[in-house]
Amino acid sequence: MKKLLVVIASISLLFQNCAKTDEALAPALTAGPTLPGTSYNYLVPFPAHIQTALAATDNTPANNPITNDGATLGRVLFYDRNLSLNRTVSCGSCHKQALSFDDNVALSRGFNNALTTRNSMSLLNVRFYRSGKMFWDERSATVEKQALQPIQNHLEMGLTLAELESRVNGLSYYPALFQKAFGSTTIDSVKIARSLAQFERSIVTYQSKYDRVKQGTDSFTSLEAQGEQLFLTAPRGGGGGPAPACAGCHTPPMFITSTPAGPFAFPLESGINGQNRFKSGSLRNISTRKFLFHSGNVADVSAMLKAGSPGSGSAGIPAHAVPPADVAALLAFFTTLTDESITTDPKFSDPFKQ
Ligand code: HEC
Ligand code: HEC
Repeated sequence: MKKLLVVIASISLLFQNCAKTDEALAPALTAGPTLPGTSYNYLVPFPAHIQTALAATDNTPANNPITNDGATLGRVLFYDRNLSLNRTVSCGSCHKQALSFDDNVALSRGFNNALTTRNSMSLLNVRFYRSGKMFWDERSATVEKQALQPIQNHLEMGLTLAELESRVNGLSYYPALFQKAFGSTTIDSVKIARSLAQFERSIVTYQSKYDRVKQGTDSFTSLEAQGEQLFLTAPRGGGGGPAPACAGCHTPPMFITSTPAGPFAFPLESGINGQNRFKSGSLRNISTRKFLFHSGNVADVSAMLKAGSPGSGSAGIPAHAVPPADVAALLAFFTTLTDESITTDPKFSDPFKQ
């Protein structure tokens, strides 16, 4: 009994110490988010070509459908810097809305200024990756599971799940948001993960020129149309196996697939299952994005088409350099994939910024 008391006493002392260090390290940022009276609509109807792709590839689990209140809570968590050890970094620090939820550096900096080991990924259309596996090497099985990884990563945000729950519990603006999203003010990491995943799955591009063309309300220039044909049909090698076209691995209309045509090898470093393979996220908005591939060593899509992936040798990323005659048409086609609304829509923006 005595022993038990001592243990309890020292455990509570430990917690007090933690709380003290935590406050000394970085006082809580208590200013709450600014949210609209009626929540934004995250359940928009998509045009038919997107809806068809969604039906075939959606990774939303039955127990976590998107709701407006769930995505709203996810949005607040996504931008809340209280979720990193010294309260300096949020998910939005490395996944910036203005940059299609990607970063503008090859490697990003975490809460302590340390560099991430791989290039940040754009979060556009993660919902359309059928397997749901996240990260360049697919090491996370679902979007929900992925959401708690950066928070616990010692380079990125640096908290334990217990610290995360205690921090979110300690902020006055959260109970009402959890009540709306989940019908209870109880806060735990499962709900945190679910709401973050709802917000991420709501980030869907469907308002580009490409989408208007597919709906019959706009048309490609002849160069853009030529680029689309090259993308869909021209064989592009594949590490020695049968040669798929770009579209075999980056499937329209979201230009993403979790089951790429193959076989292919990217002999750079171990990736998926240690097999020198990496996933590719959606190529939507690709002509506006910089620092591509898992290493971030490709400056942009134009550099990639001309030279492939520098540093990997001619056998490195076999499919990615194209004959000079094809470059202009492919680049023209890629500009049609840019959805500017996603980078400015307030429903995806930082609610802590006034
Ligand atoms: C310090 C920068 C940083 C922070 C903070 C950060 N991320 Fe990331 N994120 C990355 C990097 C780098 C990768 C790729 C890492 C890898 O594959 O090893 C990544 C990958 C991802 C992916 C995988 C996308 C895909 O298509 O596979 C998702 C989803 C994601 N992050 C969501 C989040 C969420 C949610 C948060 C906040 C809880 C967050 N990130 C915080 C840098 C960051
Ligand atoms: C055999 C499958 C395959 C084919 C064919 C293919 N790709 Fe890729 N692509 C990938 C994979 C896998 C990655 C990610 C590789 C990495 O990071 O190491 C990728 C990455 C990319 C990226 C960088 C994405 C990012 O977010 O950083 C672009 C752009 C790209 N591919 C465009 C193309 C184009 C254009 C073609 C046709 C000329 C093409 N791809 C053909 C599999 C393929």
